[in-house]
Amino acid sequence: YPRAMQVFRSFGAQLLSVPWDATGPRAEVFERLLERHTPKLFYCQPSAHNPTGLAVAPETARRLLDAAARHQVPIVEDGFDGSLFYGAAPTLPLKAVDRGGVVIYIGTFSKILFPGLRLGWLVGPPPILERLQAAKQLADLHTSALIQAAVHRFCERKLLDRHATRVATEYARRRALLLTALRRRMPSEVTWTEPQGGFSLLVTLPSGVDAGALLPQAIERGVAFAPGAPFFVDGGGQRTLRLSFSSVAANRIDEGIRRLAETIKAARGRLRGRERVERGAVPVV
Ligand SMILES: Cc1ncc(COP(=O)(O)O)c(C=O)c1O
Repeated sequence: YPRAMQVFRSFGAQLLSVPWDATGPRAEVFERLLERHTPKLFYCQPSAHNPTGLAVAPETARRLLDAAARHQVPIVEDGFDGSLFYGAAPTLPLKAVDRGGVVIYIGTFSKILFPGLRLGWLVGPPPILERLQAAKQLADLHTSALIQAAVHRFCERKLLDRHATRVATEYARRRALLLTALRRRMPSEVTWTEPQGGFSLLVTLPSGVDAGALLPQAIERGVAFAPGAPFFVDGGGQRTLRLSFSSVAANRIDEGIRRLAETIKAARGRLRGRERVERGAVPVV
C-alpha cells in the first residue's frame, strides 16, 4: 500500500519486501530476512491485501507469527478490510491468534463506511498504545470527537452490522461481474488475482505492455485504473494494474472492461508491429 510506504520512508526507514504468493507473504523469505536483518517492524495486510485482494492462509499466518515471536519483531497488521470477504470466512486476524504478543492491529472505518471519516482503531499492548496516543496528540491533538461519537452511536445501534452485510452483498455482486467480464473480454496473455476480500484485484499485462504508458490510452477510451508499480516496494510491477470495484456501478463494469481490453489489444498490436519492423530491419553500417 503506497501510503504506508510513504509514511515509513518519511521517517527514514529502509524498506525490505516480502513477496506474496497465493497463501500470503512468503514465510521462508520472511524467516530469512529476520535472520539477516533486525527490522523494527513487519507491516502486512493479512485479511485483504491491497491491491491483490488475497488473504493469508492459516499455515502461513502461523509461520509468520512464530518467526516474529522468535526474533521479537512486532507485526503491524493492517486489518483493511477484514469485514469484506467473499466465499469462505477469512482466517482469523493475526492478532486473534497472537500468542507471542507481537501484533499491533490497525482497523479502519474508511472502507466499510466511507473514506472521509478518517477514523480507525488500534489493538495492541498497553505500553505501545500509550506511546502512540502521545504521538497522535503531537500530530493532530485527536480525531474529531463528533465523528467518533457519531460512529460509536452507529455501532451501538447495530447499524454497522446491517450496513456491512449490505455492502458485502453489493461488493460480491460487483466482484463477480468484474471477474466474468475479465474472463470474457481479456486477451489470453492477461492474468489477474481473484480477490478473497477487500475491493480490488491486480491485473498482469502481456509482456512488454507497461501499465503507466497504457493509462493515458485507456483514459482516452473513457476508462481508468491505478498502475500497479507504486504498490511494489522495490521496483517492478510495471506490467501490473489495480482495478477497484468499490465505486463503479454494477451496470458499467462490463463496458469498462471491454474498453480496457481494447486498449490492451491495441497496445499489444503496436508492440508486435514494432517487433516485426525490428526483426526485418537491416543494420546500416
Ligand atoms: C491497505 C490500506 N490501509 C489503510 C488505508 C487507509 O485507511 P484510512 O482511510 O483509515 O487512513 C488504506 C486506504 O486505501 C489502505 O488501502
